[in-house]
Amino acid sequence: MLEHRRRTVLGGAAGVGAIATLTALPRRASAQQGRTGSAGGRFQGKVVLVTGGTSGIGEATVRAFAAEGATVAFCGRRRHLGRHVERVVREAGGQAVYTHADVRDPRSVQRFVDGAVRRHDGLDIAFNNAGIQYSAPLHETTLEQWDDLMNTNARGVFLAMRHQLPHLIERGGGHIIVNSSVGALVGRPDLSLYQASKQAVQALVKSAALEYGRHGVRVNAILPGITDTAMIRPPDLDDATWERAKVALGELNVDGLKSVATPDQIAAGVLALAADEFGYLTGVSLPVDGGIAAGRRMLLPEV
Ligand SMILES: NC(=O)c1ccc[n+]([C@@H]2O[C@H](COP(=O)([O-])OP(=O)(O)OC[C@H]3O[C@@H](n4cnc5c(N)ncnc54)[C@H](OP(=O)(O)O)[C@@H]3O)[C@@H](O)[C@H]2O)c1
Repeated sequence: MLEHRRRTVLGGAAGVGAIATLTALPRRASAQQGRTGSAGGRFQGKVVLVTGGTSGIGEATVRAFAAEGATVAFCGRRRHLGRHVERVVREAGGQAVYTHADVRDPRSVQRFVDGAVRRHDGLDIAFNNAGIQYSAPLHETTLEQWDDLMNTNARGVFLAMRHQLPHLIERGGGHIIVNSSVGALVGRPDLSLYQASKQAVQALVKSAALEYGRHGVRVNAILPGITDTAMIRPPDLDDATWERAKVALGELNVDGLKSVATPDQIAAGVLALAADEFGYLTGVSLPVDGGIAAGRRMLLPEV
């Protein structure tokens, strides 16, 4: 529902068609700055794993957990961004360790998970967040795109859970949170692959919650709404145009709060789910979406 084909969203729904033709500026390659630091906090002494922590929601979640005292191990493929996030967290007094890992590769995932557990002496919380998106009509989607997207968004989550669960069981409990999408609650033109992958992980979450509850392991999904990350931002837009486009995007598509989420707002939802206060919550898919799931919008055509 949310992750639209970029040109369609920005050129059509948001009514800012001109932006796609504006002069391109290089996309910022730096991690977003924000609150970080480790003095005290809800996750003091906890070991947290994040897949896809090099940018966007994953990066914000790495910073947020570290700011609340956790030791965070995170992965991604872009080494320069991994090192940057690591540095930002450490300079603010937090603890984060980057490992180059590709969630499509079973050995890479195992190395990341087992290596982090060895290094930090256990595992308490995992946020399986890494994901990509393709947008195309179903009949134009190639087998390679299907494999790449499913191997990242669905099989990557399965592989991560497969290696995380034994460590959580050994620990006597813990929590896995999977990043799905509020868009997965419905169908969406041109996003059939993405929607299928995100619904698949919600099914994994529900079944795993039932399988591992007896071991004290909670398994939940978070369903972000439209979030200001590279996944939805057209690569060639300058900052000022993107700021305008975001306002229109929120007004038109976010029925409740009328604005696009920041990665920090989604990270705050992940931490709230992971906190002990929600210790009795398992098997749920929680929208953090500004009210999108609560409404079924009907846009009227211009006549
Ligand atoms: N933005 C939204 O509106 C929105 C809404 C709902 C759900 N989501 C979900 O949120 C998650 C994060 O996306 P985002 O919006 O934050 O976009 P993003 O900035 O593009 O982040 C995607 C993250 O996934 C990592 N990743 C992708 N493929 C990977 C692979 N094969 N192995 C390891 N890491 C990989 C990327 O790291 P590398 O490229 O360095 O590998 C990056 O850290 C995704 O699962 C997405 O579906 C986003």
